[in-house]
Amino acid sequence: MTSVPTFLMTDPAHYEVSYSINPWMEPSHWSAAPEERHRQAVSCWRALRQALEQAGARVEVVPGQPGLPDMLFPANAAVVLDGCALMARFLYPERQGEEPYFHAFFQQLREQGHLRQVDLLPEGLIHEGAGDCIWDPLRRHFWVGWGQRSAYEATAVIEKHFGFPVVPLQLVSPRYYHLDVCFYPLPGGEVVYYPGALSEASRAEIRRRVSDDLRIEAGEAEAELLCLNAVNLGHDIFMAKGTPRLKDQLEARGYRCIELDLAPFILSGGGAYCMTLHLDRSSAAQDGAANWQQQDLQEIG
Ligand code: ARG
Repeated sequence: MTSVPTFLMTDPAHYEVSYSINPWMEPSHWSAAPEERHRQAVSCWRALRQALEQAGARVEVVPGQPGLPDMLFPANAAVVLDGCALMARFLYPERQGEEPYFHAFFQQLREQGHLRQVDLLPEGLIHEGAGDCIWDPLRRHFWVGWGQRSAYEATAVIEKHFGFPVVPLQLVSPRYYHLDVCFYPLPGGEVVYYPGALSEASRAEIRRRVSDDLRIEAGEAEAELLCLNAVNLGHDIFMAKGTPRLKDQLEARGYRCIELDLAPFILSGGGAYCMTLHLDRSSAAQDGAANWQQQDLQEIG
């Protein structure tokens, strides 16, 4: 068993923007130069993969499927913690076709020992995976987005399923349709977020739980760059190019920002976090990155 952090990414062969289910998606921007866009997408995807690998991660790749271009965003496939995956149910028919492919692949991951359990949400309950369910490694709870894609009713189900507290946050803007496009917690306890995407009650909830010195509030212009859709591996933060202000704030706190060109994916409303799914996220590790298999062994032995 290895303790190398493992991310899932989707082979970009069938990626495109051919429909619109969020305000970022304009199929005409893609169809104006589809080959060129696809070429760019493949090269940006490779750069993200390479950056993660250079930082010490392993990347598992799930094949994409023709006609299901948003499979490219595996963060929406499931919530994963301590080797247990809870498969997503999508709101839009455009994405519902992904469910059986992801489910079959996750079963395969289980057979290979990368996961120990794969479960389904109750029928009819909509929740779009890690995009709307973000683990806070320091506070040891999930922050769960609802109100755009995912149903409020899913929060209690997730809490019961994983046995960890869940803090629901209401998303109020169609442009910030998943929590991961406007919010992320860091291992040092910082929470980076765009308040404008959240209801007043949810902003108050964040202020109640996260002290002033740990709240990093981004402005609309920063959120618009989709740089808050960031994936972190320890103190490395992989993100679409943000602003010098945000980068300076993060680096002053000891993080390293790895800014990447993710333009072809921003055309679909996605960035670094949702292009990946952390498969070995552990509730015990402070940076969320240790391998659950190792802890299991320690617990046993
Ligand atoms: N086009 C995709 C959609 O609208 C993008 C999903 C990005 N994923 C995310 N977790 N933000 O579903």
